[in-house]
Amino acid sequence: MKTLITTSITKAASFIKKGEVVAFPTETVYGLGANAYDEKAVRKIFKAKGRPEDNPLIVHVTSKKDIYVLSYDVTDTAKKIIKKFFPGPVTVILKKNEIVPDVVTAGLDTIAIRMPSLKLTRDFIKACGVPIAAPSANISGSPSPTSFIHVLQDFEGRIPCVLVGPDAKFGLESTVVDCTVNPPVILRPGVITLEQLKQVDKKIRVAPKSARVKSPGQKYRHYAPEARLKIIKNYVPRSAEPLKITNAKGKKAYIGIRNLPADLRSKFVRYYFAKDLNDYAKKLFAFFRVCDALGVKTIYAGAVSEKGIGLAIMNRLLKAIKN
Ligand code: TXA
Ligand code: MG
Repeated sequence: MKTLITTSITKAASFIKKGEVVAFPTETVYGLGANAYDEKAVRKIFKAKGRPEDNPLIVHVTSKKDIYVLSYDVTDTAKKIIKKFFPGPVTVILKKNEIVPDVVTAGLDTIAIRMPSLKLTRDFIKACGVPIAAPSANISGSPSPTSFIHVLQDFEGRIPCVLVGPDAKFGLESTVVDCTVNPPVILRPGVITLEQLKQVDKKIRVAPKSARVKSPGQKYRHYAPEARLKIIKNYVPRSAEPLKITNAKGKKAYIGIRNLPADLRSKFVRYYFAKDLNDYAKKLFAFFRVCDALGVKTIYAGAVSEKGIGLAIMNRLLKAIKN
């Protein structure tokens, strides 16, 4: 299959209208979308990604009206989240309407809904004329794509069209909030932080780890590079810790907020010192992909405190560790 790489929204939307899948940019990561009402088209997403069928998709909309078409019970907390954060990098789980095919929600009676803030994404969904069901546009289990180049690494020749846009502004996926339970729970930490969500409903909390299976995606190893990932806790530059690290066999890479002493840098085939937490989040998945391309054996990632977007960063790091 030849993959059309285009900046034309009209052209990309014509594939969706034909029942095909299209990869498209958003402010979080690239998505692999299909018409949410077209069961056959949605099946193509699962096939292309090698995604387990019990892992439901997020449905992307451009108008608040669409939320009420997809769900019959938009709860008070959901309304507040929608008012404050839509369009933006947060997803709400609500009870689903019959109109949504079971394949989209993996047979659940709930649906994940998100309204992206990137204008290009919104224009694309509008041009499609239907809500777009889309997971991240990566082969299941590999790091989410933050640039169209990553999408091509995974899908060139395997999907008919990639809509090219800017690199992802945030680089981590949306926060998933289950609004069907009381109090609402965060099933997947993301760009919109727990602290921000508490401003609309102070009862919102992070789901205990055991309960997160409710978000089926959370039970799989995820976001993962080929390399072994090691999280460095409480590391102090210039202490013995980095020295010990460099005794490991094979190619090594480092990403973290803290700098490494100049004499140690040469021991790593790649290193990245993030400017701050947002920069760490934005570059993490791209860093994983570069490491894989270089044949890195061990990636050392500096731990961060689980505050703000730090919670999402630690969640992705822990998910990337091979069991
Ligand atoms: O930022 C994002 O959310 C990106 C962009 C493309 O929008 N999408 C994304 O999709 O990350 P995906 O499929 O990689 O992750 C969706 C997550 C999964 O963990 C899935 O299990 C969960 O949302 N999810 C979807 N529907 C659900 C539902 N009805 N109940 C519980 N969890 C659900
Ligand atoms: Mg994903």
